[in-house]
Amino acid sequence: MKSISTPPQGTLSEAFGDSPVRSEFLPFHQPWIGNEERNEVLDTLESGWLTKGPKTVAFEKQFANFIGVPHAVGTNSCTAALHLALVALGVKPGDEVITTPITFAATVNVIEHCGARPVFVDVEEKSLNLNVELLEKAITSRTKAMIPVHFAGKMCHMDEIMRIAQEHGIKVIEDAAHSLESQYLGKSPGQWGDVAAFSFYATKNITTGEGGMLVAKDPELAERVAVLSLHGLSRDAWKRYSKEGYRDWEILEPGFKYHMADLEASLGIHQLRKVHVFWEKRREIVNHYNHAFQEMKEIVSITREATINRHGYHLYVIRLKMGDRLTRDQMLDRLQQEGIGVGVHFRAVHLHPYYKEKYKIPEGTLNVAEKASEEILSLPLYPRMSLKDADDVVRAVKKIIVSSK
Ligand SMILES: Cc1ncc(COP(=O)(O)O)c(C=O)c1O
Repeated sequence: MKSISTPPQGTLSEAFGDSPVRSEFLPFHQPWIGNEERNEVLDTLESGWLTKGPKTVAFEKQFANFIGVPHAVGTNSCTAALHLALVALGVKPGDEVITTPITFAATVNVIEHCGARPVFVDVEEKSLNLNVELLEKAITSRTKAMIPVHFAGKMCHMDEIMRIAQEHGIKVIEDAAHSLESQYLGKSPGQWGDVAAFSFYATKNITTGEGGMLVAKDPELAERVAVLSLHGLSRDAWKRYSKEGYRDWEILEPGFKYHMADLEASLGIHQLRKVHVFWEKRREIVNHYNHAFQEMKEIVSITREATINRHGYHLYVIRLKMGDRLTRDQMLDRLQQEGIGVGVHFRAVHLHPYYKEKYKIPEGTLNVAEKASEEILSLPLYPRMSLKDADDVVRAVKKIIVSSK
């Protein structure tokens, strides 16, 4: 493939042809579901027990082992796990919760659902993770918790975050939606914070369609989350219709309908067994992209190869540095015309209408996040892709850039 730094000889069509790079659209993401998952789902359907039951309990145990924490509670989404974490840690109206603007709606919405105030701290230029150097300035007497997000699979500086949190008596909830396989200084999400919340949404590193998991070190906290996830009913109320016989239950506090179902766990049990295979395949694609884009001054890659700390390789995020010659939104349109699926992770949350209107954060306050919001886009990255697919992505990116110079 031609290097972008050497402009193509002849016309664009000589270099790249006249038709779109892909005749068959390459989706932004496709899950990898095998026969093991299919058979387990069928087994669950035939068992007659579809909701929370033995398979959810088995998946919770396997997940806790995988992460290396004593407790895991299955939920129907990462959003639910984050919400449960805030409630179980006692976040109430009037409290403040520090988080990053470069995240999905869920991280911040759950703070609002508790009646607390999200306090945004700007991100680092290179990783787009929360900038720990700005953290202490954001802490007030009302700060109850922090939600660092391990963006794209690269973990935040958890040693510093935990030091600051412990000094100020602040609880830490790791948003680990992107970072199932990630490690920082040899420790996984959940081994650092009070809790960590994982996502098994359809586009995540492993999927149960919809689903999530909360992990915790403290048994009482995990127990409270489990109770809250099933309406606040007393322990093991989920067994009430099982063959163990009907058990009376009590409402201990008003909880939520947030638990995982055995249908989801049927997928999760087998997806978890494949986690390393999936990770290796994504790593190969990341290396391929990095190599192809390394000489291009128009592109800065956020997702780099893991060094000491293990990267989860959830998203391949690039920043486009072409100013008005080619905006990010034009790049998104053009890539789709070339047959390549794309995403944006994320436009900063405080720029969205609800948060803009409510908190009126002056422009420039979260400067790094605001600038990144206009420049970032995500390219396909999943184990079902081939290196030929990745080549098509690179070719499309190069074609668009060359034609916009
Ligand atoms: C950073 C982050 N946090 C939380 C979530 C919510 O995950 P779920 O869809 O499982 O609720 C997502 C989902 O995309 C996410 O990207």
